[in-house]
Amino acid sequence: MPQAILLREHGGPEVLRVEDIAVAAPGPGEVRIRQTAVGVNFHDCYVRSGLYQTLKLPGIPGLEAAGMVIAVGDSVAGFAPGDRVAYFFAAYGSYASERVIGADRLVKIPNGVNDATAASLMIKGLTALMLVKHVHALGPDDTILVHAAAGGVGLLLSQWAKHLGARVIGTAGSPEKAALAKQAGCEEVILYRSEDFVARVKDLTGGKGVSVAYDSVGKDTFYGSMECLADLGHLVNFGQSSGPIDPMAVSLLSKGSYTLTRPMLFHYCATRPALEAMAAELFAAIADGTLSVAEPATLPLTEAGEAHRRLEARETTGALVLTV
Ligand SMILES: NC(=O)c1ccc[n+]([C@@H]2O[C@H](COP(=O)([O-])OP(=O)(O)OC[C@H]3O[C@@H](n4cnc5c(N)ncnc54)[C@H](OP(=O)(O)O)[C@@H]3O)[C@@H](O)[C@H]2O)c1
Repeated sequence: MPQAILLREHGGPEVLRVEDIAVAAPGPGEVRIRQTAVGVNFHDCYVRSGLYQTLKLPGIPGLEAAGMVIAVGDSVAGFAPGDRVAYFFAAYGSYASERVIGADRLVKIPNGVNDATAASLMIKGLTALMLVKHVHALGPDDTILVHAAAGGVGLLLSQWAKHLGARVIGTAGSPEKAALAKQAGCEEVILYRSEDFVARVKDLTGGKGVSVAYDSVGKDTFYGSMECLADLGHLVNFGQSSGPIDPMAVSLLSKGSYTLTRPMLFHYCATRPALEAMAAELFAAIADGTLSVAEPATLPLTEAGEAHRRLEARETTGALVLTV
């Protein structure tokens, strides 16, 4: 019997419980997938806690997974039973052993990339690509700040930015995380739980500041990140792992003619051609060594609550995947 994590009420990690589910036959344009690996993202914690009210309850959370096609509906072209596929899907439903999904959301997993890695990359890898090329086209003239540089997105973002020639200054929550971030291309890593990261960034840039600050931590770092910018600098807020940001006076941006963006991956991959192009670029970056991706940490689907606890307790590095 297929199983899924059904979110019936918002709350702590303990509200994530496994239940048996019925999975329908795929309709026109849809496929049925037997999932093997489900990516865990900080977004899932916002949905579980109720910070984001974007999943109708009761509902199955989760944005990304990998597995095998086991049935196809009418008029599906390009996918057949037996294909190894991965996806991310803004309408949720990935915390499950089987599901039905539109074939237009799928990409084939290349040989040489295993299911757990593919499941860990669809959101985090595409987000890194969005950040270094689409939100801001990084190059050798850039010195950038990456918060939580040892996190799932952080390790990929740091590597890709370094590959493009940028000088990367990271922040991390512990010396062990700092060591990982350095391996991923950060020239310097600031232990921002004990050091004043604004003062250190100023020091490391000769008082000038950075051209881009990538901030996914939110509440605790947002205003400090703005202080780290050079004139004409770009503040990219793409998450809030420490909590939502207090309302901001737009006039603050005039201090250095700053730009502020708040990108969401879903908008950058909303069309089939955009998804295909970005996924192809991501898998090519893995094949040519631009990105070196460690095997993600794994827990069984039944322990989704423990996965959320670890993520929110800042205990993880890199990606975390639920196995089925
Ligand atoms: N906009 C988009 O399209 C998009 C897409 C994907 C992800 N995101 C965002 O990117 C961020 C990273 O996502 P991820 O899944 O890869 O998670 P992650 O970075 O692996 O985990 C979050 C990290 O944030 C840091 N952090 C700082 N303050 C924290 C706090 N109070 N509580 C918990 N963590 C804290 C921790 O690293 P340290 O211990 O090193 O501080 C923690 O490990 C999230 O904010 C997520 O929402 C956005």
